[in-house]
Order: sequence, then structure tokens, then C-alpha cells
Amino acid sequence: MTSYRRIWQAYVLPRWPMVVGLLVILLLGTGLQLLNPFLIARFIDLATGGGSLRQLALVATGYLLLATLLQLISILETFLATDLGLKATNALRADLAYHCLNLDLSFHNSRTPGELIERVDGDVAKLSNFFSRFLVDLVGNGLLLLGVLITLFAVNWRVGFALSLFVLLTVGVIHSMRNLGVPLFHASQEAQAKLFGFLEERLSGSEDIRTNGAIPYVLSRFFEHSKRLYRKQIAAHFVGMGIYSTSMILFGVGSALSLGLGAFLYGQGLASLGLVFMIFRYTELLTRPIEVIGRQVQDLQQAGSALLRVQELLCIETKVNDTGAAKLSSGPLSLSFDRVSFRYPDAREDQEATLRELSFKLEPGQTLGLLGRTGSGKTTLSRLLFRFFDVTTGNIFLNGRPLPDYRLSSLNKQIALVTQDVQLFHASLRNNLSLFKKELPDETMLEALKAVGLWDWYQRLESGLDTILEPHSSLSSGQAQLLSFARVFLKNPGLIILDEASSRLDPATEQQLDAVIAKLLQNRTAVIIAHRLKTVQRVDDIMILEEGRCVEIGPREHLEKSDSRFAALLKSGLEDNLV
Ligand SMILES: Nc1ncnc2c1ncn2[C@@H]1O[C@H](COP(=O)(O)OP(=O)(O)OP(=O)(O)O)[C@@H](O)[C@H]1O
Ligand SMILES: [Mg+2]
Repeated sequence: MTSYRRIWQAYVLPRWPMVVGLLVILLLGTGLQLLNPFLIARFIDLATGGGSLRQLALVATGYLLLATLLQLISILETFLATDLGLKATNALRADLAYHCLNLDLSFHNSRTPGELIERVDGDVAKLSNFFSRFLVDLVGNGLLLLGVLITLFAVNWRVGFALSLFVLLTVGVIHSMRNLGVPLFHASQEAQAKLFGFLEERLSGSEDIRTNGAIPYVLSRFFEHSKRLYRKQIAAHFVGMGIYSTSMILFGVGSALSLGLGAFLYGQGLASLGLVFMIFRYTELLTRPIEVIGRQVQDLQQAGSALLRVQELLCIETKVNDTGAAKLSSGPLSLSFDRVSFRYPDAREDQEATLRELSFKLEPGQTLGLLGRTGSGKTTLSRLLFRFFDVTTGNIFLNGRPLPDYRLSSLNKQIALVTQDVQLFHASLRNNLSLFKKELPDETMLEALKAVGLWDWYQRLESGLDTILEPHSSLSSGQAQLLSFARVFLKNPGLIILDEASSRLDPATEQQLDAVIAKLLQNRTAVIIAHRLKTVQRVDDIMILEEGRCVEIGPREHLEKSDSRFAALLKSGLEDNLV
């Protein structure tokens, strides 16, 4: 209950004018609905009791006006409730998305994108009804139910008593049937989530699946998932229909009961024809609140599990705090590692630390070439600079201050990372270059495209910077790589990390890129992570990593000439030694 209250307070209460508006409209609607059967009863009594045509017309007009007003109220109520629901859920969605984006990488590594979509969108959608309708429906329909029963008691206590019993019985039966259905609904939803998860994974790997001829296998799994979903949905649907039919039958019984009672009272001369009709109409009015309240109670149970998962997610704290206030100045940064060791938070107990006792220093504008076999920890080192993770022991200093002293946003602004994985967005070329920053002038972007040698490509585009890029088809891997270099030019950072950035390019493009990189590195500090010796021809210092340890470090020119591992590598020309 506390979690329901807390989330309601956070997302619905700030929109209290809408809630008040909804309640007012609801009370008005309920009152008017209760008035409705009175008018019909009056009409019938007038008609059977010889009322004048004028009187009849007056009551009929009143009835029509009332019906129209009720419709208008219902439209307004639906609008307000939907609006409130959407605003509250969108705010919660935004908060969740922001929260997830700020969580460190150990969180993201342990969850699939599908799972996160389900949390941020699916679960929140399940809360929409709770936000917008729950209280309103419960209060509104509770009042209606109470109003009808009180009126019936006032009209005739026997009728009131009989129909109260009927309400209790119906609510009990429908509620227990719904409870029977809940596990089946859950099973059907789960089967659906599984099918979507399966599809997401297979679609993203479609190239591998096709080239390996695994289509028949994937299709057969797809059919299995579909078959399961079909079975679960049929079962859930049958129960749903069962609940619906049972309530219809019960409501029929209720109507028969009220008609029977009415006929009895009429026969005894205790009620007029109008009154009999009024009792009948009130019985009909009872069905809606019974339906709605039952549905809301069931919905609350479903919302409960969604709410629990949402709160769990909100309670996960990032292991990397952003309490530093310092800002990095522009211009080349100095970087130093002081006995840095790092273990991935989710690493097995028996696993060695990924980086061990790493120390080095880069003066502003210097370039470090980082070599090492695959898995030696090169990429891990770059992740630490962005504080995707914090070091386990030791310190990293930028411009002489430890990394946590700086605001994360400042680190992101002053450090750039280029990897083989270039993330292109389904958006215009302009947004892909500026990464959605509005203030970058077009000319600057065109300059950047020229600088990285994408000018010819750009000129062939029909809509220029407004061309929408398709993430998987607009650019070759090499071109995408060049585009990511253009992004770095635009970002203008003081420290660059290139993680095997040029490995996808053909020799001609690579040469062209060499010049680009040289320009990029001017007046910037850089770490160039490379598998190939060619990539580090121009760096100032070389560091060789082996299983997370630095096994050699020194000025490149010095290492080249001395009896070093680097010199041996150069001599043998065996790049395989590294890869
Ligand atoms: N998210 C992670 N969680 C746990 N262990 C990880 C994670 N990422 C990498 N590792 C482990 O850390 C070690 C170093 O990985 P890293 O990616 O830094 O190597 P690398 O030197 O960049 O390799 P490559 O040259 O292949 O890119 C590997 O043994 C890897 O299994
Ligand atoms: Mg790597």
C-alpha cells in the first residue's frame, strides 16, 4: 500500500487540479445518472395517469437534455482520465529512462535491451490505468452503487434488501472467477514476452543466421513459441468469455428479480407502473459499478507486480556517484594512472583482476600507443576513463585531479572515444553528426565532413544534411568510421581514445585517415589502442599490456632502438604476436 501511495503522490498528486476536476465531473455524472430513472418513472405515471401532453413533453425534454449532458460528461471524463494517465506514465517513463541511462555499465551488461524495454515501457503501461482511473472509478462507481441501493431502500425496503443481496452474490461470484483467470492471463502475457524476446534476438542476428543457413531452425523455434502463445491465449480468452457470460447471466437474473419484485408490488397495489420501471432501471444501473469495481480490483493486482518491478529498478543505485563538482578546462589534458587495479563487478571469484597495478603518465598533447593481445584489458582501460566503472584500487588523474572530482558531464564533454562499433541513429545526417545538439552550425559540420574525407560521399546525397540515415544501410563500416571521426572533430575534446579505430578500412582509406588522425591529434592528448603495429607509428609513448599488467612502457623512439619487446615485434614484423 505504501508503494502505491508513494508512486501516486509522486506522479498523480502534482496534477491535482485534473484529479479534482475528474472527481467533480464524476460526482455530477453520478448524481445525474441517479436522476434519470426518476424522470422515466414520472413520464410513465403521467402517461398512465392521464397527464397532459404538455407535461409529458416537458418530462421528455428534460430526459433528453439529461441524456445529452451525461454523454458530454462522459466524453470530458474520458478525456481528462486519459490525459492524466498519459501525463503521469510519461513522466514515470522519462524518470525511469533517465535513471537507467545514468546507471553504470555493470547494470547494463547484466540486462538485455528487451528486458529494459519491458521494464521502462511495458510495466509503466500497466500502471497507466492505476494512475488515471483507479481512484476515480472506485470513488465514482462506489458512490453510484451506494446511491442506487440507498434509493432502492428508500423506495421500498424489500426491494432494497433483495437487490443488496444480489449485489453481494454477484460481486463474490465474478471476483472468484476473475481470480481463477489471473494465472491464465499471466501465462499468456509471459508467452507473448518470450515470443518478442526471441524475435528481437533473432532479428538483430539476422545476417549470421542467414549466412549460416539457420533459417529453418529459427523458423521451427518461432513456430514453437507461436504455438505456445496460441494455446495460452485461447485458454485466457475462454476464461475471459466465461467471466463475461457469467456476469451477463447474473445481470439477467438480477433484472428478472427486480421485474418479479416489481410485478408483485404492482399486483399488490403497492407500486405504480412508473415505480416498477424505476426499480428495473436502477437494477440495470447496478451492473456498471459491479463490473468496473471488479475490474479495477483485478487491475490493481496486476499493477501491483508491475509497480514492484518499477520500484526495484528505481532503487538500483549507480555504483558510480556523480558528486564531483570540478570542470575540465578545454585544451589538451594530462592523464596519469597511479597503481590502478580493476576487477569487473560481475567477475567470478576465482578470476584475476582485469587491470593490475597500472601506472603511467601522459603530458598534455602526448600520445600513448597501447598494445596487447586480445583480452589484455585495453578496452577496459578506456571504460575507466569515462567512469563506466570506478577503479578497484589506485587512482586516475586528469589535469592532476582524481577522476571522481570531476562532474561526469564534464568528463563526457572533454573525452572522446572512437571504437569499431559506430552507433548510427535513424535520424538526419545533421543529428548523427551533432548528436542532437542544436547549436552546431551547418558550416562547421560540413568542415568536419571535408576534414575526414567524406565530402565526395556527402555531395552525392540528395537532401544534404537532412538526409535520413538508415543505421544498417546508409554507410559502409569504413564510412561509418569516418563519420565517427567527424563527430570527434565537432566535439573538440582534450583527450581522445581510439580503440582499434581504423581496422575496418581498406589500405587507401586508411592512409587517408592517417592524415585525418594526425590532424585530430594535434594539440590533444590521446591513447591509441591498436592490434597492429602500423597504427602506432607516430605515437610518443608505447605501453604493452599482458593480462592486465604493463610489461613494457617507454618512449617509442627509445624502445625501437633498444632491446625491447616492441623492437622485437617490429623486427619480426609478426603482428600475429599481438593479435
Ligand atoms: N563487462 C565485463 N564484465 C566482466 N568481464 C569483462 C567485461 N568486459 C570485459 N571483460 C573481461 O576483461 C578482460 C579484458 O577485456 P578487454 O575488452 O578490456 O580486452 P581488450 O584488450 O580490449 O581485448 P580486444 O583486443 O579483444 O579488444 C577480458 O578477459 C574480458 O573477458
Ligand atoms: Mg578491446
